[in-house]
Amino acid sequence: MHEYIIVVYGASGDLAGRKLLPALYHLVAKHRIERYIIVGAAYEATTADRVMDRLDTFLHDVDKEKFAQFRKNFYYHKLDFTSYDDYVALKHQVNELRVTYGFKAPRILIYLAAASDFFCQITEFTARAQLAERSNVADGAWARLIYEKPFGSNLASAQKINACIARHFDESQIYRIDHYLTKELVSNIALVRFANVVFEPLWNGRYIDNVQITLLENDTIGSRGPYYDAYGAMSDVVQNHMLELLAIIAMETPERLTGDYIRDRRAQVLDHVKVEDVFLGQYEGYQQELNVRADSTTETFAALILRINNSRWQGVPFYLKTGKALTKKETKIHVVFKPVTCLTETCPAQANVLTIEISPEAGFSLQLNAKRPGQRNELMPVTMDYCHSCIFGKQEVQAYETLLEGVMNGEQSVSVRFDEIEAAWRIIDAIHKSELAVHIYKKGTAGPEELADFNKKHAIRWLS
Ligand code: BG6
Repeated sequence: MHEYIIVVYGASGDLAGRKLLPALYHLVAKHRIERYIIVGAAYEATTADRVMDRLDTFLHDVDKEKFAQFRKNFYYHKLDFTSYDDYVALKHQVNELRVTYGFKAPRILIYLAAASDFFCQITEFTARAQLAERSNVADGAWARLIYEKPFGSNLASAQKINACIARHFDESQIYRIDHYLTKELVSNIALVRFANVVFEPLWNGRYIDNVQITLLENDTIGSRGPYYDAYGAMSDVVQNHMLELLAIIAMETPERLTGDYIRDRRAQVLDHVKVEDVFLGQYEGYQQELNVRADSTTETFAALILRINNSRWQGVPFYLKTGKALTKKETKIHVVFKPVTCLTETCPAQANVLTIEISPEAGFSLQLNAKRPGQRNELMPVTMDYCHSCIFGKQEVQAYETLLEGVMNGEQSVSVRFDEIEAAWRIIDAIHKSELAVHIYKKGTAGPEELADFNKKHAIRWLS
């Protein structure tokens, strides 16, 4: 049975409470981790109990006994990311716990659920205080570090952070996270595409008219003002989740569907992305959110037209749309096929569409044209559905569970390689340079009214 020491920097924060600690609980409850100690470290003067109490809101179907056990193995250590002495004290605590638990060759997992401005400092002090020191490597002990997204705030800062990390740890120990990569339906995209002969031959500009990737949210930025105002939609979700979705959809066939084979292919796509046009928006009242600048022009809405400069995707626009405070929470990809030559009196009103729904339901559907009952050759759209969550159940925290398990198993494809991150920042940096107008929209709507002009100019028909 493997032993784990898990250190979570930023344990009292939003991400740890909403996603990371619940995912760890579920892994424990499913017996994927049995011998473990979790030490949360953050600046807040709080206690292990209070951090655990907060999980109540985010944990469902809790087994009381298992959760009591999970609580018992969770410790909290107040730590200032910039104070080396705090890391030394943390190391002492970890050492003591290790003795108490009788761990011989623990695997060490360090999770940086912190702003990327601190990545270099945390990495350096973690290394110096020997918190990620591997013991008894022969017994399968390892130390791995997980870095939350966004990795940096532009290309230059990402490169600086990466160089800093590389001074202390080997690339094989580093996992740069994008939790979208481990959402069930996202990992399904490549499988569906490459395992079904009906899709792959059509997966190019000859048969595909356009691809739409939409990540819509009804929530506002909530209490994340300082972070969000510095990043905006473009760096918060386009640079990572949405461009990774695009890379998976558009990549060439990898030799195998694992590790660097996939990462090579994703990076190639991102290297060939060209920005055609961008439209930005901000929801009304955003400037009054807590810790947001009163004259902020940070975008909470973005629509983009991208092209991929290679022979497969000649002539195919990729439309991306995202926003906060919209009508619904939903992430979908629509692959819209070209219309067929019309042989009937009434031609199909709609082309075939493959829709991959990532959330709230996981599944995919294929829209076809079929005959309307009756004498005439009239067509109507029909949909073939595969509802993944109807069969396998809802998967609230599963992306983080899969991600943690992937890292524990050394599966590199659950994380983003640095060349992918660099390519994605190049795209975003270029957009930021153009200082676009930001259009205001009302909360709870589909976005700024001016989007209609943008759609008209580019003949875009959004399917969601
Ligand atoms: C995070 C962003 O990475 O992804 C958030 O920082 C966003 O702003 C979230 O809300 C969306 O993820 P999910 O899994 O809820 O769709």
